[in-house]
Amino acid sequence: MTDMKPAQGHGKYFSRILLIGSLLLAISSGALAEGLPPPSPPPLRDAAKSKGIRIGATVDDWILKRPELADLLIRQFDTAAIENSLKFLQISTGRGTYDFTRADQLVDFLNARGLAVQGHVLVWHVDNPKWLDEGKFTKDEAESILKEHIFAVAGHFRGRVAAWDVVNEAFEENGTLRDTVWLRTIGPEYIEKAFRWTREADPDAVLFYNDFRIEWGNPKSDAVLNLLKDLRAKGVQVDAVGFQSHLDMQKPFDLASVRKNIGRFSRAGFPVMITELDIQVPKLGDVRQRKQEAEVAADFLQAVLAGGKVKSVTFWGLTDESSWIPSWFPNALPGLLFTADLKPKPIFDAVLKTIEKSAPAAGQPVK
Ligand code: G3I
Repeated sequence: MTDMKPAQGHGKYFSRILLIGSLLLAISSGALAEGLPPPSPPPLRDAAKSKGIRIGATVDDWILKRPELADLLIRQFDTAAIENSLKFLQISTGRGTYDFTRADQLVDFLNARGLAVQGHVLVWHVDNPKWLDEGKFTKDEAESILKEHIFAVAGHFRGRVAAWDVVNEAFEENGTLRDTVWLRTIGPEYIEKAFRWTREADPDAVLFYNDFRIEWGNPKSDAVLNLLKDLRAKGVQVDAVGFQSHLDMQKPFDLASVRKNIGRFSRAGFPVMITELDIQVPKLGDVRQRKQEAEVAADFLQAVLAGGKVKSVTFWGLTDESSWIPSWFPNALPGLLFTADLKPKPIFDAVLKTIEKSAPAAGQPVK
């Protein structure tokens, strides 16, 4: 005879089975999921930190009114870049005068939640105030405007903004300097002056040069590398180089060239920041696209992380809802990590696995 348990033991055993069965049925039917937030995936920030990499997402002041998005940001990322609120046009109220109210609220909100703030952008040719774009200035006037702007902004946020792209998008695709108000009025030395003034205004922030389509070898990335070497030779400290990394699924890129290019910047002593990573996905209504965007992200990040010393990876948006892509490219979908209803997409797992599989402390230079 087996040591049968008394009948009531059987009864308890079966009632437990029934309970588990009904729970599983409820969960599978979504009854329990009703109103519950989607299960949170493991935090990217932990995987990235184990490799010596900061990981971030770009936000703006909409985050102040969306606690569920703030929760997602804090859970998954340790860095927050600011998309627009620190741009010249957004904070300038006239020549030499600023309104930092909105930016202060956002920066303090992010700092209060333990996020490092990536400032964007001190010197650029887009979203400058009208009085600057349309003004006629002598070289001395232009230099005092630029210096005043840098000291006003970097000085105001000193200790609260961890990194600045001091100069953004200074080159054309062919490697020549872009024709901007700064080049026209001050000359090529505006870049050196901008870095020197920012370092004076904030001795502790990470200062980097930022640009797009320099992720692989081409005349533009050649020009950026030469600029950085030239600045260093003049004693100008540039702490890193920002590769915006706005990828487009319809414009494939050479992965070997990405790895080689990242490696040459890293070996030249310029740590790499991926600053605005997102993917333009053609609007084809094809369900396979989510898998394809995940593959593109994984391939790109793998090439970058294998290439050299990576300081940070920042996505240009938190969820697909906050992406700039749909309003600028009506025939494209945004390739970010989370859907508008905060669910992780296949690209999330692809990014997480790529970081986890990358070399230990991928931030180390390639031998
Ligand atoms: O804040 C004003 C609002 O008051 C006004 O009513 C509205 C309509 O004119 O414009 C709002 O400002 C817009 C801003 O986004 C905030 O929505 C600007 O016009 C618009 O030009 C700005 O677009 C941003 C763009 O840079 C230009 O600054 C995009 O959101 C932003 O994603 C995009 O990001 C750039 C990086 O800064 C640099 N690298 C490339 C990247 C993608 O273009």
